[in-house]
Amino acid sequence: MPKVEVVKDYKELSEHVAYLIKTQLDRKHDATFLLPTGGTFLGAYDIISHARPGTYDFSEATIFNLDERLGTPPTDPHSFQRYMRKNLIDQINVKPENVHLMDGSVMSPERNDAYCKAFDRMLGERGVDYCWLGIGGEGHIGYNEAGSPFGSTTRVVDFSPRTIEDMLAEYDNDASRIPTKGRTVGIRNILASREPTLAASKGKASAVYMALKCKPDRSCPASALQTHENALFIIDEAAASELLVSAAPS
Ligand code: F6R
Repeated sequence: MPKVEVVKDYKELSEHVAYLIKTQLDRKHDATFLLPTGGTFLGAYDIISHARPGTYDFSEATIFNLDERLGTPPTDPHSFQRYMRKNLIDQINVKPENVHLMDGSVMSPERNDAYCKAFDRMLGERGVDYCWLGIGGEGHIGYNEAGSPFGSTTRVVDFSPRTIEDMLAEYDNDASRIPTKGRTVGIRNILASREPTLAASKGKASAVYMALKCKPDRSCPASALQTHENALFIIDEAAASELLVSAAPS
């Protein structure tokens, strides 16, 4: 079962995530990270970006990211490449050649197949030490939506209606502009990491509950983490609220 650490609120969550990333870097200077985008990690990335120079030494580290929206080139303000560069990569001392961000270009089936296989190969050759994850409202990790096989690898996926709905505000409520597909590492890639750690804050209480309390099943992709011996959940009290209710004496 994953270890669960509950912190007070989003601020403490961000501080704790940043602290653990520092610990991971101090422990292994040439660590390989697989990192998410999304609101949950903005606070931690901000702390890392504004830390005293030298606090977070990424000079020997390698960074991959988990996923990308299809049809959003790196220049697109909604692309995860843009998010990663703006909120983390451009602020730290990682070497450009050690940064591998998922490409969101639409490709022919043959090129896509070759791209996904090459991404998998790179992940496998480097070996991921620390995989950080957010969680979707229905339990997705990366863009592995409900129904994703636990043996899945890097591929193109269709977004669930809930994932599309969650993007509405970012696209000024114009559903016609929202990408309907993404490219993501698979659940097998995530489970192959040495230490997968999921962070969650408000709005994620039922997804966190399903991930930890339901039998591991593809209907909740995050429940796959139950099968990993080093998985860790760092959640704030809002995200833990359904777990706390279920644990309360009746
Ligand atoms: C994004 C990713 C997603 C998000 C998840 C939570 O790279 O992998 O699984 O982590 O959708 O997103 P936020 O943090 O915005 O709630």
